[in-house]
Parts: sequence; C-alpha cells; structure tokens
Amino acid sequence: MSIFDALHSLGHEQIAFCRDDAAGYHAIIAIHSTRLGPAIGGTRLWRYDSEDAALVDALRLSRGMTYKNALAGLPFGGGKAILVDDGTSPSREALFRAHGRFVERFGGAYVTAEDVGTSPADMAFVRMETSHVGGLADGGGDPSPWTARGVFRGIQAAARVRWGADELAGRTVALQGCGNVGYHLAKELARAGAALVVADVDRERAERVGRELGARVVAAEEILATQADVLAPCALGAILDDVSIPLLRVEVIAGAANNQLLEGRHGEMLAARGVLYAPDYVVNAGGVLSGGFDLLGWTTDEVARRVEAIYDTTLEVFDVAHAKGISPAAAADRLAEHRLAER
Ligand code: NAI
Repeated sequence: MSIFDALHSLGHEQIAFCRDDAAGYHAIIAIHSTRLGPAIGGTRLWRYDSEDAALVDALRLSRGMTYKNALAGLPFGGGKAILVDDGTSPSREALFRAHGRFVERFGGAYVTAEDVGTSPADMAFVRMETSHVGGLADGGGDPSPWTARGVFRGIQAAARVRWGADELAGRTVALQGCGNVGYHLAKELARAGAALVVADVDRERAERVGRELGARVVAAEEILATQADVLAPCALGAILDDVSIPLLRVEVIAGAANNQLLEGRHGEMLAARGVLYAPDYVVNAGGVLSGGFDLLGWTTDEVARRVEAIYDTTLEVFDVAHAKGISPAAAADRLAEHRLAER
C-alpha cells in the first residue's frame, strides 16, 4: 500500500512511525482528524502478522474513532496508537514511558487511553512522560458498564423500529462474549425481562451468566446461528461476513464489538436479508462518553444523560437509513460526515 494513497483514501491527517529500540518500542500513531478537537483514541498492544496489518489497523481504528466521537457529540477528533508487540521490550515501564514521550510530541493533538492489550497500569507509565492520557485507575473508572448501558439503549431503539415498542420482556437475546461489557449488558437485559442465550470461548464466563441470570449457555461456535430476536456481539470484530450472515436467525443486531462488519458491503447484505443492524460505533459510544469524566470534567449525571441519548442517536440513524434507502451503517457514516462538515 502506498502511504499517501492510504492517507488520502481514508482521509487521515497524519501518521507517525515511532521507534525507540532500547525500549523495544515500535509504534504507529495515526491521527485521522482533529477537526472537532484533539484526536482521542486508545493505545493497542498487539502481535501482528505483518507491518501492513498493523498499519491497516491503525488507519481503520483511528478513522472509526473520528466517526464515533462525532456521532456521540464529543468535541474530539479520532486517533489511535498501535504498539507492535515484537517481544523486544525489556519491561512494560520502558515500553509505555517511551510511548508517553512520543505522545507528548503531539502537544495535545493526540490524547491516548487504554485499549486492547493495555491497562490502567500501563497508562500510569505513559502519564510519567505526558499529561495527554486518560483511562488511569484513578480516573473515571471502568468504562464497560457505560458501554453496556449504551448498547442496551441501542437495542431498545432497534426494538422500537422493528417491533413498535422498546419493550424487551419476552424477547430473546443471543449474546456473544461475556467479558466486561457482555456481563454488564446481560444484567441490563435480564432486568428488562429478556431471555438470554450466551456464549464465550472462556466457558466459565458464560457459565457465570448462566448461574447468576438464568441464561442458556451454548458453545461459542453456535452463537451466531442461534435462533433469537436480537444478536448482541460483544467479543470480536469482523464477525459479520459472507459466511456468517446467511446463518443468522435474528431480526436485530446490536452489540459492543468494534468493526463488526467485515466490509462495508456487509451492511447492505444484512439490510437485504431484513436484519436491522444498529451500527457498532453508534451503540458502543458509552465507553468513550465516560471519558468525559477525565477529559471534560463531566459529572456522573452528565455522562448518564449522554449515554441514555444513544437511544435517540440510534433512532436518528434508522430514520436516515429509511428516508434515504441506505443501510444503517451507511446512514451512520453519513450523519457523522455531516457533523464533521458542519465545522
Ligand atoms: P473483554 O475482553 O472483557 O470480553 C470479550 C469476551 O469475548 C471475552 O470474555 C472473550 O473470552 C470472549 N470471546 C472472544 N472470542 C470469542 C468468540 N469467538 N466467541 C465468544 N466469545 C469470545 O472485552 P470487553 O471490554 O467486554 O469488550 C467487548 C468488545 O466491545 C470488544 O470488541 C471491545 O473492543 C468492544 N468495546 C468495548 C468497550 C468497553 O468499554 N470495554 C467500549 C467500546 C467497544
């Protein structure tokens, strides 16, 4: 891939390739947009098959953050840091302090936080070198309950569009992934009277939801083909593709996992099959909204108000999709682009 072609095609402002051999630090920091404010987005530490794969992740995830923040009404742009886990770092402290020094060079144009493969303890090392970091243990706390609440509100909005009412009592939800978000979402759904079918590759996590909330536990390979009203993907991305979509036996999909569609065209494929898809970055914005505690000084009430409003945003996305005859995924992108263009 030509770097400038990649920047152009996805609309990025800047990509930095960063290296500190003594710290075993090899990173890509992608700033997609600062149009609405500083680019915020987490730091992912991952083992990649190739440098291209790491770059593609940085580009896609940072762009995703721009759209998510715009649609969530946050005064932030989108960015992402990818730390390539090549096993050369002598310690977490060395690695994340090196990261902090590079983040500092952006002078606040990029603000980082924890993400897949990183923790609040790692962010504390980043903090030793820069103030442009959130997601610390003494900050707003675990974002997962907020993310789960937002997903729940998104499911309610989808229920309203699909079945004419928010009511989830008597509906069955198939939940893929019973981790931080999945567990909290299961609780919200059980409280609302929904029946649960759950799966996790870590069987004990699913069993726990079975024991505590009366969920039926199925094997991880079965969950996508389970008959239910709603599928809530809360595990991995890229699960909706040419193979899985024909197997689906649900009317609504709404969950926390990022980048659920393997490709954009899978949004159209779902619509063509009559499955109502609530775009992932619209309904999983609760986590990024809870960053408002640290970054914007919001109170709990303010965060809660905005997370509840994910219901309205999801309805707006479905309205635009209906009015324009496009998929909800395309409608969400259009609304986000509209907000970006307003500036
Ligand atoms: P987590 O790591 O706590 O939970 C994910 C769970 O999925 C784990 O229990 C894992 O064993 C399970 N899993 C992995 N592969 C699976 C498979 N093939 N089938 C069934 N289960 C599988 O992660 P967390 O924090 O709950 O996040 C879930 C998803 O939501 C991730 O994709 C994450 O990127 C996304 N997300 C999370 C946010 C948050 O606030 N934690 C915010 C926005 C998005």
